[in-house]
Amino acid sequence: MENYTHIIGCLRGRKIVLGVSGGIAAYKAAALARELGRVGADVHVALTEAGLRFVSALTFQALSGHRVWTSLWDGDAENGMPHIALGRGADAILVAPASADIIARLAHGRADDLLTALCLARDCPLFVAPAMNRQMWENPATQRNVATLRADGIIILGPDEGGQACGETGPGRMLEPGALCEALLAFFTPRLLAGRKVVVTAGPTFEAIDPVRGITNSSSGKMGYAIAAACARGGAETVLVSGPVALPAPAGVRRIDVASALRMRDEVLAVLPGADVFIAVAAVADYRPAQTAGHKLKKSGLPMRLELVPNPDILAEVAARPDAPFCVGFAAESQELDAYAESKRRAKRLPMLVGNLLADGVGGDDNTVVIYDDAGRHPLPRAPKALVARQIVEHLARLLPAG
Ligand code: C5P
Repeated sequence: MENYTHIIGCLRGRKIVLGVSGGIAAYKAAALARELGRVGADVHVALTEAGLRFVSALTFQALSGHRVWTSLWDGDAENGMPHIALGRGADAILVAPASADIIARLAHGRADDLLTALCLARDCPLFVAPAMNRQMWENPATQRNVATLRADGIIILGPDEGGQACGETGPGRMLEPGALCEALLAFFTPRLLAGRKVVVTAGPTFEAIDPVRGITNSSSGKMGYAIAAACARGGAETVLVSGPVALPAPAGVRRIDVASALRMRDEVLAVLPGADVFIAVAAVADYRPAQTAGHKLKKSGLPMRLELVPNPDILAEVAARPDAPFCVGFAAESQELDAYAESKRRAKRLPMLVGNLLADGVGGDDNTVVIYDDAGRHPLPRAPKALVARQIVEHLARLLPAG
């Protein structure tokens, strides 16, 4: 990861103060601290007295690699003032879970413990992730307090709806650690694609032979999903037309599920109006069975022939339109990457194409890619797909005609 400091940019090295107040969701704050650390944030944790009843300081010390702050009266902090020392240089404070009580105290500008004092003395964005029983959340007093926080420019993340620790169901669940981390990532990512609409294809296609069999390939969809996530974080309205994969839709992305290349083409054309960018990451099957059997084919001892017909090339078709958006292609090759990738870019008349060798990217979490455009080839360092995606988005944002 050490080489990618310049790529991540968004949370790497940022000082995030995680405030953990008293609620059963405090156990999830441990996963959150780890997740934030994983994307490069420098996490410092402040626990309230009530928070300490649910989770231990030692847990967070081990996960964050820093001492954990629990009291306004910790004398050994810089200047003897932990609420100032901890907040100094912080890029954001995230209170997760935020109980009804801490929300009330924040709304009233109280500073009667370390975390509230820290929030009051801050000069950075404050994020609050409510977590409480449904009735506590719906109580007009809590709703008033949340409205006050919003009016003060504090960002409220969630809550989610669903089953609660108390056995009830309704609004009040803390957002999952991954979603909270994603919200911070999105906040710190430059809005390079603000006001733009992007359509992305991802995953394999599935070309049915009969009701249970088909032709597909081993594309995992990870690169396309990472691209869609990076576009959404960059501020684009993002539509992801996805073949069958086992991945959740990235935050802020509208996902349309398809199986066959023909359906993928139809859905792409349906959502294309108004698009500024089309990024074709899908590994579309080049051929499909000439006929799909209505019933399961029965085996016989004889050889069997399957007639295949070519599928439309979705990317070539979109790029050839008179009103074509900025089109980005992908090419996964088993050899001679430069020659094949550049000839595909020219054949499909693409301003930009991303190439990788099959051995480097397919199925895994990392990728080594080269970007090809009219200016030449631009190799990127090997990196996790999320980071590669971010660089690809930065590159296309530079090439994109002014909107
Ligand atoms: O299959 P090929 O190597 O030509 O794919 C290059 C690019 O074209 C990829 O971006 C892929 O998503 C796109 N493509 C497509 N429809 C096809 C085949 C490829 O959009 N039928």
